[in-house]
Amino acid sequence: MMLDQACFKNKKVLIRVDFNLPITESGIVTDDRRMRSSLQTIQKVIADGGIAILIAHFGRPKNGYEERYSLRRLLPTLSNLLANPIVFVPSCVGSEVKNLIDSLEPGTVALLENVRFHKEETLGDIAFAQELASLADTYINEAFGTIHRNHASISLLPAYFKERFAGYLLQEEIAAMNKLFLKENQPVIAIMGGSKLVDKAKPIKGLVNYAEHILIGGGLVWPFYHAQQTTSGRLSVCAQEEVAFIANDVCNHINKNMHCQLSLPIDVVHAPEIHEQAHPCISSLENLPYGSHILDIGPATQAHFTSFILQAKTILWSGPMGIFEWDKFSTGTAMIARAVAQATANGAFSIIGGGDTAAAITTMGYEENVSYISTGGGALLAYIAADRKLPSLEALQV
Ligand code: 3PG
Repeated sequence: MMLDQACFKNKKVLIRVDFNLPITESGIVTDDRRMRSSLQTIQKVIADGGIAILIAHFGRPKNGYEERYSLRRLLPTLSNLLANPIVFVPSCVGSEVKNLIDSLEPGTVALLENVRFHKEETLGDIAFAQELASLADTYINEAFGTIHRNHASISLLPAYFKERFAGYLLQEEIAAMNKLFLKENQPVIAIMGGSKLVDKAKPIKGLVNYAEHILIGGGLVWPFYHAQQTTSGRLSVCAQEEVAFIANDVCNHINKNMHCQLSLPIDVVHAPEIHEQAHPCISSLENLPYGSHILDIGPATQAHFTSFILQAKTILWSGPMGIFEWDKFSTGTAMIARAVAQATANGAFSIIGGGDTAAAITTMGYEENVSYISTGGGALLAYIAADRKLPSLEALQV
């Protein structure tokens, strides 16, 4: 049964949400997209006359309770968005929690304290999952941003409920991602940037079967360039051996696949130091001065990448092209954002993944001009890397 067809009247519904929001030290939430996107599911439960019990993590506490990771800090944001009184429950397990939940009236929203204050959550402890399950009649997973974690409240909990659902947001995220895998949505172009090759390597390998072109920018440029040169014997050992190994592995994988091409920048914007006021220079990768840092893609690459993007039917963009937060190095990311918006206006479906890319699209003013901004960064990449088969989703069986 789908969520729409369900009725939650008089039911206690445990909703696993992802409220891992960016917050300043003084408690100002700088991006509430994830919370806003979960509202429809929460509202459905209370409108039906059910009790919505929200369970979430916040940050990565190491050793039990830490005030800065308390979900109490997010109460004002949630109250503003929900316009409904919220009962804060200062733990998520134990008899007091159970008694409190049992005393709630239908139509109430309860927010449980950070589930990661219990190490059993990240350890995937079965007894812990059973205890959480005893709080409710029904389970909804609405935490797309966390579906790649095999934690108790994500991957174990669903098995303890006869009635379990994917929340509206989770359904929407999966429907958007799945467009990448359908033949009728080709050509697919993936734009991969950002700083960490280690996070992008498996998803890039996963994309090889579906994408026609993978355009590389940001901190991924040098490792891939290096890998291509070492393969052809033009460069030798890379300073960071692990990164070189990963890039080589991805390149070998792509070379075996005739369908997909990896495109590196023709030119890059570089500087002798990583500094906002550093003097930007443009050169090809072959002529990059020794010791300089690649901080953006160059103008020829912007035009080259734009021509690919405008031919795409489906676009995935994960990771900025450079340090877009600094004016001198923001043009590449801005031009790619513009190209993605233009392709979308021409009928392409565009997916933006990850907090940095979402921030870039918003900063450049194209938030309303792309098809879908995902609430997951790591989750989206993991979904692609695992070819859609994540334990959390398999446990949900929806
Ligand atoms: C995220 O912010 O990426 C998700 O909430 C998962 O958080 P985690 O990386 O701490 O598991």
